[in-house]
Amino acid sequence: SAAEKGGYDYFMLKEIAEQPKAVADTLLGRIDAVGSLTLDEVRISAAELREVDKVVIVACGTAFHAGMIAKYAIEHWTRIPCEVELASEFRYRDPILGPRSLVIAISQSGETMDTLMALRHAREQGSKVLAICNTNGSTIPRESDAVLYTHAGPEVAVASTKAFLTQLVACYLVALYLGQVRGTKWGDEISAVIRDLSHISGEVERVLETMEPVRELARSLADKNTVLFLGRHVGYPVALEGALKLKELAYMHAEGFAAGELKHGPIALIEEDLPVVVVVPSPRGRSVIHDKIVSNIQEIRARGARTIVIAEEGDEAVVPYADHLIRIPATPTLLQPLVATVPLQVFACELATARGNEVDQPRNLAKSVTVE
Ligand code: G6P
Repeated sequence: SAAEKGGYDYFMLKEIAEQPKAVADTLLGRIDAVGSLTLDEVRISAAELREVDKVVIVACGTAFHAGMIAKYAIEHWTRIPCEVELASEFRYRDPILGPRSLVIAISQSGETMDTLMALRHAREQGSKVLAICNTNGSTIPRESDAVLYTHAGPEVAVASTKAFLTQLVACYLVALYLGQVRGTKWGDEISAVIRDLSHISGEVERVLETMEPVRELARSLADKNTVLFLGRHVGYPVALEGALKLKELAYMHAEGFAAGELKHGPIALIEEDLPVVVVVPSPRGRSVIHDKIVSNIQEIRARGARTIVIAEEGDEAVVPYADHLIRIPATPTLLQPLVATVPLQVFACELATARGNEVDQPRNLAKSVTVE
C-alpha cells in the first residue's frame, strides 16, 4: 500500500532515501567516543582473531560486490590476505580452508542457499564463520559462529540498495576491528577513517539531495540498448554493481569493467553515442590511478562514447572529458563506494520507470533465492 511505501511510488525509492539512516544505524553503538570499535556481538575471541591467517568472503549478487570492496579494506588495513568468491563457485573448487581461516558470509536475507552451503562447507573444514546479515534470526546467522547485523531495516524491493550500503559499513567495521585487535597499522590513517565513517551518513544524504540531474539523464537514455560501466580499485566493484542494477531493473545490456582492462578488449565495444559511466577515484588518494582513469575517459570519448563521469567535488581534471558530470563528496579512497553507488541506484531506478518496468518486482527475479 501507499502507506507502507511512506509516500514513495516504489519501495526501492523509499529504501534509497532511507540510506543515510540505515548507514547511521549500522554504526550505532559500535564506535566509542575515542574512536575505538566495540563489536561485542562478534563472539569470536580477540585471541582467535589474532590467529587468523586468511579471510575468505563468500556471497552472491549485490552482497558479492560488497565483499569485493571489503577485500581492499581488509588487506590494506590488516595485511591479512583476503579472497572473495561467489558462494555458488566456492565449495565446488575444493577451497583451502582451516581453523585459522576466517570466512565472512554476506547476505541481506540470510537465506540464500548458495551462501548457506558455502558456510556449511567452511565450518566442516574447521573455519570460523562470521555472518554479515540484515535479517535477525535467519538461517545464515544461526549457522554461523558470530554475526554482525547491518540494521538496515526490512528491504522489500528486489534490487538491493540500503542493504548494500550497510553491508559495506559492516565490512569496514570488521576490517577496522581486525586491525584493532591485531594492532596492525593502527595509526593516524585509521583514526581518520573512523572519524570519516562516523560522518558518512551526512555525505550520503548530500548525494541524495543532488540527484535530479541524474534522473533527467536516465530518462534521456531510455531508448538505449547498452550502457557500460568502468571503475578502478574500489570503483571497479561499484561499476559492477551499477551494471547489475541496470540489468535487474531496466533489462538493459549493462557491463562493468575494470578500467585498466579497457585496452584488452572492451574498448572495441565503444561506438558513437554509447553511454559509458566512469567511477573516478579520488585525485587525493592514489593519484596514479586517478590520472590513468582520466586518460581512459579521454580514450573512450575520442572514440565517440557519451561519458557519464562520477567524480569527487573539486576534481577539475575530468571536466573537459565529461559529457555528464555527477559530483560526489570527497571521502577517503576506501570509503568512496558509499557515496559513488547512490547515483547508480537512482540512475537504474529512473531508467526502469522510464522504460515502463516494474521497479520493485523485476521480471524473473526473487528477493531471496533459496535453491542452489
Ligand atoms: C538475489 C537478489 C539480489 C541479492 C542476492 C543475494 O539474487 O535478487 O538482490 O543481492 O539474491 O541475496 P542475499 O539475501 O544473500 O544478500
